[in-house]
Amino acid sequence: MEENYKPVSYSQTTLTELMIPAYANFGGKIHGGILLSLMDKVAYACASKHAGNYCVTVSVENVDFLQPVEVGEMVSMFATVNYVGKSSLVIGIKVIAEDFKQGSVKHTNTSYFTMVAKDDSGKPTKVPALLLENNEDIRHFMEAIKRKELKETYKIELNNAKTILKVETEKHILEGERCKIGFYYKNNK
Ligand SMILES: CC(C)(COP(=O)(O)OP(=O)(O)OC[C@H]1O[C@@H](n2cnc3c(N)ncnc32)[C@H](O)[C@@H]1OP(=O)(O)O)[C@@H](O)C(=O)NCCC(=O)NCCS
Repeated sequence: MEENYKPVSYSQTTLTELMIPAYANFGGKIHGGILLSLMDKVAYACASKHAGNYCVTVSVENVDFLQPVEVGEMVSMFATVNYVGKSSLVIGIKVIAEDFKQGSVKHTNTSYFTMVAKDDSGKPTKVPALLLENNEDIRHFMEAIKRKELKETYKIELNNAKTILKVETEKHILEGERCKIGFYYKNNK
C-alpha cells in the first residue's frame, strides 16, 4: 500500500505564554512544572496534528533547565516532529524566554517528548510517514534514531546494574558520597 507522507512543516507548532506571578516558586523563579505542562501541551498539539488522531505522552527526555525563567518573561516553545515510528512520534521542543525590558532572549532547554497515537478504542494506531524537507529535518530524524539506540543500550545496562548490585556486597560504592547508614526514624520513634 502507498505510504501517506506529511511534511514536517505541516505540524510545526509554537506556543507562547507570558510568565505571570502565579507561576512562580518560593524563590521567585518560574516553577519547572509550569514549563513541563506547557511543553506537554505543545507536544500534544504538534503530534496530534501530524497523526490526525488523539496522542498520549509516553516518555520525556532531556529536560535540563539550563537557565531559570523569570516572572514577566515571554516563553515560546517551538515543537517539531523529529521522528516517526509506526504509532510513535518524537516531538522536539525548543524553549526560549524573552525579557522585553533587557531586550534579551535565552535558550532554556530543548527536550524530546515521545507520543503515541491512539485510535478510538485506545489502541496505538499508525501515523503518517514523515516528509523531510531540508537538512535540519534530516538531522533531527537521524539524531532521534541515535537517541533511541542509546536509550535501548542504557535500559539494558541499567537493568544489568540493578541485578548486579547487592546491598551486602556492594556497599563500598557509597564511599565518598554524602550519606551515612543509620536508623534514625526507627531509633527515634
Ligand atoms: C505507551 C503505550 C501506548 C504502549 O502500549 P503497548 O500496548 O505496549 O503498545 P506497543 O508496544 O505497540 O507500543 C506502541 C509504541 O509505543 C512505543 N513505546 C512504548 N513504550 C515506550 C517508551 N517507554 N519509550 C518510547 N516509546 C515507547 C513503542 O516503541 C511503539 O512505537 P512504534 O509503534 O512507533 O513502534 C501504553 O503503555 C500507554 O497507553 N501508556 C500510557 C500513556 C498515557 O496515558 N500517558 C499519559 C500520561 S498518564
